[in-house]
Amino acid sequence: MLHGKTILLIIGGGIAAFKSLDLIRRMRDEGARVVPVLTKTAEEFVTPLSVSALSAEKTYRDLFDLTDEAEMGHIELSRAADLIVVAPATADLIGKMANGLANDLASTLLMATDKRVLIAPSMNVRMWHHPACQRNVATLKSDGVLCVGPDEGNMACGEFGLGRMAEVPDIIAATSAALSDGPLKGKHVLVTSGPTHELIDPVRYIANRSSGAQGTAIASALRDLGAEVTFVTGPADVPPPAGVTVVAVETAREMKEAVEAALPADAAVFAAAVADWRVASQSGSKIKKKDGALPVLEFAENPDILASVSQMEKGRPPLVVGFAAETDQVLEHATAKRLRKGCDWIVANDVSPETGIMGGAENAVTLISEVGAEVWQRMGKTDVARKLALRIADEIA
Ligand code: C5P
Repeated sequence: MLHGKTILLIIGGGIAAFKSLDLIRRMRDEGARVVPVLTKTAEEFVTPLSVSALSAEKTYRDLFDLTDEAEMGHIELSRAADLIVVAPATADLIGKMANGLANDLASTLLMATDKRVLIAPSMNVRMWHHPACQRNVATLKSDGVLCVGPDEGNMACGEFGLGRMAEVPDIIAATSAALSDGPLKGKHVLVTSGPTHELIDPVRYIANRSSGAQGTAIASALRDLGAEVTFVTGPADVPPPAGVTVVAVETAREMKEAVEAALPADAAVFAAAVADWRVASQSGSKIKKKDGALPVLEFAENPDILASVSQMEKGRPPLVVGFAAETDQVLEHATAKRLRKGCDWIVANDVSPETGIMGGAENAVTLISEVGAEVWQRMGKTDVARKLALRIADEIA
């Protein structure tokens, strides 16, 4: 995907800059030319010598370096690139970008370009959650800047949380997606996936057997067609795909909130196996075993996320796709479900135990829309995902 492409890599001054050295190598392995730019603070973390050695290019550092201007002015430097990647994107760089400041080479390049920009934020968890940073990131996203990460985990400063720079394979995947001229380029697609866990008490929950495999494959296929994908996932067995924005949730109610926060979208695919009921009598402490006495669970109905999005009066995604996992009378039930929920398409499948579909590698689906039902032969979940992604592209691209 990166073959023959020129990537202008702006390395900001954060501890994650050491990962950018590996990023340069991986981008070059994928066939890209990587032109590196270091901010002043980045030089405190990695040296221009290492960066040049790995990129086999001059490392650009200073706006007022006359030799650089003679060789290649800052306008020219950004004009020659197919994509600008900022990794790590520090809170400072993000703030400058969002506010149009241009007082050094990196920020000037970012102002002087009309190319796509992908940022990989990296900072302390509190800096990331600071309203100013969140405001700046939201501004950048609405300006069309792409964002990969940050991830959650241990931080160099000893804290834990969101703020770690995305891993190199994720940045590579996001770079490929940003460079792809796929039919879904510039489109935002929301995908829900996996089961939900409904808590009984702090240590017990009710779940279902969804592995998240089909939803994950759909998110990957949409990404490969160039879409910007928000992937809202319950606790699944398979890891989420690289190069998509992952929002991990546990319960149906958290999933609904995450879905609403991810809108607007050009299309939404609801592949999650959302629990229909939650435990109304959820206990705040672990329910103790008492001799002879059995606990009684009372249930309450969960919100129907698909139905509520399908029936939105304002801001409804132009294409809403639901899934129907049925064990009998698949077609009848799924057709009725499409009308009841108000979605545009239903992807129906038979999850009777003898089909081996739930948790398996294959799927046999029927696509139901306003115009009727279309039976797809049994195929791998990845192929189902590709076929569905192409159909979505036909519809909204
Ligand atoms: O009603 P049922 O669960 O069979 O419908 C399946 C479809 O509805 C799936 O697309 C699923 O993701 C979605 N759904 C939902 N919220 C629920 C229940 C199901 O989004 N609470």
